[in-house]
Amino acid sequence: MSLLLAFDDEEALALRLAQALGWPLARVELHRFPDGETRLRLPPRLPARTVVLRGLQQPNDKLAPLLLAAAGARELGAERLELVSPYLAYMRQDMAFTPGEVVSQRHLGRLLASHFDAVVTVDPHLHRVATMDEVVPGRRGLALSAAPALGLHVAREVPGALLLAPDEEAGQWVQAAAQAAGLDHAVCRKQRYGDLEVEVALPDRPVAGRAVVIVDDVASTGRTLVAAAQGARAQGAASVDVAVTHGLFVGDAWAQVKSAGVRHVWSSDAVPHASNAVSVVPLLALALRQLG
Ligand code: R5P
Repeated sequence: MSLLLAFDDEEALALRLAQALGWPLARVELHRFPDGETRLRLPPRLPARTVVLRGLQQPNDKLAPLLLAAAGARELGAERLELVSPYLAYMRQDMAFTPGEVVSQRHLGRLLASHFDAVVTVDPHLHRVATMDEVVPGRRGLALSAAPALGLHVAREVPGALLLAPDEEAGQWVQAAAQAAGLDHAVCRKQRYGDLEVEVALPDRPVAGRAVVIVDDVASTGRTLVAAAQGARAQGAASVDVAVTHGLFVGDAWAQVKSAGVRHVWSSDAVPHASNAVSVVPLLALALRQLG
């Protein structure tokens, strides 16, 4: 028997995934003590194969309880323990950009590898490291992609759209979306000067009169989307929409993106958000069955 173990704040996604798998679903019960520590309670007996669902948006709050839950799950019978983390944080810090910076991707990956036999995620920000297997050394790492499903959604909503990646890193996702949907695509160049300071230079491809859809993996502060949308509008795009796998939209991101003239934002349900338009549940369920 297999079991899906989830946290209360991901109830909706957990229910959909458990249903798609035909597996029982159990919850990690949390009690937060006044001093900030957390008491966790798991089902007293876990099956040999237990899969923990935990998206790592707001990672610092979630990591300690996740690692405690994993250690507890092993003690309670989970011989094979897998993590489904639809959004895997810390993937962008994949090198020391300035001397002394900690390469968090490497260390988070090793930490997860020390607790889980496999880690399944969706569109992790892999750029300088090619595969999830490298992120979780010695374990099974699976990177699924919502880009083809987002591409198909875009093709239905905006036939003939021109898909734009706002930066070189997003080239992989725009290409996958364009290929699945038979749409044109091009890649912009981005310069980031700070959390909120971003410049995007559009590619040579003419955008005047085109319905442009910006495709990226993550919308965090939204400033990448804002800069790309403003550039496309300045060059006469007929409309600008956005398709992202992970709609984090922190702080004023949503308002900024909308005020940059973006018409629709479509995201996947890897991160729950009002913009969710395509589901990663079928991908996750298939991957878990194949890991079987
Ligand atoms: C970085 O290269 C990513 O692909 C995203 O473009 C970036 O993380 C988006 O961040 P923000 O929304 O803060 O501009």
